[in-house]
Amino acid sequence: MDETEATSTYPAAYASWQADPEAWWAEAAEDIDWTRRWDRVFDPALGAAGQWFAGGMLNVAENCLDRHVDAGRGEQAALIWDSPMAGHVRTYTYAELRDRTARVAGALAALGVGVGDRVVIYMPMVPEAVIAMLACARLGAVHSVVFGGFAAAELAKRIEDAEPRAIVSASCGLEPGRLVAYKPLLDAAIAFSAHKPDACLILQRPMLAADMAPGRDHDFMEAEAAAAPHPPVPVRATDPLYILYTSGTTGKPKGVVRDAGGYAVALRASMHMIYGAEAGDVYWCASDVGWVVGHSYIVYAPLLAGCTTVLYEGKPVGTPDPGAFWRVCAQHGVRVLFTAPTALRAIKQQDPDGRHIAQHDLSRFDALFLAGERCDPPTATWIAGKLGRPVVDHWWQTETGWPITAGFRGYGLFPFKPGAGGRPCPGYDVRALDDGGALLPLGETGNLAIRLPLPPGCAPTLWRNAEGFRAAYLLDYPGWYRTGDAGQVDREGDVWVMGRTDDVINVAGHRLSTGAMEEVLASHPDVAECAVVGAADALKGQVPLGLVVLKAGAERDPAAVAQELVALVRERIGPVAAFKDARVVARLPKTRSGKILRGSIRKLADGNDAPAPPTIDDPAILDEIRAVLVR
Ligand code: COA
Ligand code: AMP
Repeated sequence: MDETEATSTYPAAYASWQADPEAWWAEAAEDIDWTRRWDRVFDPALGAAGQWFAGGMLNVAENCLDRHVDAGRGEQAALIWDSPMAGHVRTYTYAELRDRTARVAGALAALGVGVGDRVVIYMPMVPEAVIAMLACARLGAVHSVVFGGFAAAELAKRIEDAEPRAIVSASCGLEPGRLVAYKPLLDAAIAFSAHKPDACLILQRPMLAADMAPGRDHDFMEAEAAAAPHPPVPVRATDPLYILYTSGTTGKPKGVVRDAGGYAVALRASMHMIYGAEAGDVYWCASDVGWVVGHSYIVYAPLLAGCTTVLYEGKPVGTPDPGAFWRVCAQHGVRVLFTAPTALRAIKQQDPDGRHIAQHDLSRFDALFLAGERCDPPTATWIAGKLGRPVVDHWWQTETGWPITAGFRGYGLFPFKPGAGGRPCPGYDVRALDDGGALLPLGETGNLAIRLPLPPGCAPTLWRNAEGFRAAYLLDYPGWYRTGDAGQVDREGDVWVMGRTDDVINVAGHRLSTGAMEEVLASHPDVAECAVVGAADALKGQVPLGLVVLKAGAERDPAAVAQELVALVRERIGPVAAFKDARVVARLPKTRSGKILRGSIRKLADGNDAPAPPTIDDPAILDEIRAVLVR
């Protein structure tokens, strides 16, 4: 038991949620400004598995900005943009951020964007990305942010599915050692896509000027300057605030829908109970706005809570050194930092003794939160020792929008158990189930599932694909949401999340589909069949590894084919896939019924023993694969 557990209010808070979930969430909802109060806290008849705050009306951007300005916080810093890449630090007060958001909303409205219209945002980590998101929310439009590390073809898939009226983008992003020209990628994506937006709003960054398509493209800053401020438009609590695409098991990304009311309530509540962050605190989530973590904890949650959020355009190492995170924390007085374990592993590799940590004044720093992948115990222990501050690993997914399990600063609980993901947040009843859906005893590993209904903030559906939502999450275990993660709940109630049960891999905290990569490899003219697995990697947690069998008669140099495959995945999915290793093999290990034994390949790739499963067609293939992998 953690030494603070005896005095923690977590058990009482969790029990009070369990006793009356609707009353618990109704009380949390009092922290949000509603233009119309809800009729029902939870309506089980709505959507695939019920919806929260039905009948309520609100504007989320108004809750993020105007509300604080009206309450006298207009001069407080709302957003600090810290960009070692661009060499800038800029601070925007709540009043400034509200005013820019209102004008950009006006500019989007002038382009014809209205309530319910989709707007794709494909941008680097610049303030205008946050402003564009909030401007959509202000208008009641639905944003869909696409991470900048995706290639044109992936962007095109999202444009086709979301059918945006407008797209907001920038001339370029800045990666160490190279400029990423976003505009040609955007132009290519629009050319690939059957759906065409009416208009694009392009931020011209000083490092690179983008060519503009006359009639379609508009300069972001000019449009903002010319626009009239747009007032917030109230929307239904159950209306979508955004769509965020995430990797599923196939090449088609899943459009996770987030509704407005439940999300605002859950995020606002999470800031106090999980992070212990209050209005005026500086809160930094070192992720990217293209991921769910960035949506929730760079943009919406800290602003809903009246905190100062930090938007960082840089890396944990190399911009300029492994002290970058601690420099930002010291310079801006960050109290809570949220990042991915992979970032800490990168820092630890370059600064194992924590010399850079010691060089910065971290007196205002309170706690470190980790998510995106399981934090390996050596990294958790290392950073906790070097910082001398609480470290919390917390588990969540794009679908849930906020943590499922955590440690709770607001409740005074720090169950620092390296390797575990903490206790369930109020709102979640988490259990391990066997493959038939029966409850497993505490301490036994199985399929992690959440008892329905899901709490506010969690996805009510997939974009225009309610059936896909049911099939992916609800059908396997009736009455439960299938998380797709394997793990256990231990005897003390801590949840251990050990890995995915599907073909999704986690590369540097980024969720990627091996199925999508296999589709790309299979499209190469010389490839007969292929398998992609996630191989263990000391820095990124996992990296993809592709094995391909060439078509009969394809007399090719294996190294040349491998190079072409690496280039193809980069071109079709993007650099974020980090696909750098493809090997040509004579055969793939399969069951007698022809199913590729990816589990065995993964074990071999990790250098482990891979005993031949009883269903294997020909055990000798495993030795062939082992020989290719050691090369
Ligand atoms: N736009 C364009 N390209 C991008 C990009 C973006 N927004 N973000 C990453 N890329 C590129 C990188 O430049 C890299 O390209 P390269 O193959 O030419 O080197 C590639 O995508 C892979 O990026 P990444 O996996 O981030 O690896 P890295 O080697 O550049 O950096 C880390 C390694 C550990 C420093 C980095 O992964 C990191 O900071 N991770 C934190 C993860 C995180 O915040 N996750 C969010 C969930 S909480
Ligand atoms: P994403 O939807 O991209 O946020 O990825 C969600 C997946 O990342 C989860 O299903 C887990 O597999 C993994 N994940 C995220 N956070 C954690 C964590 N703290 N511990 C273990 N796995 C995690």
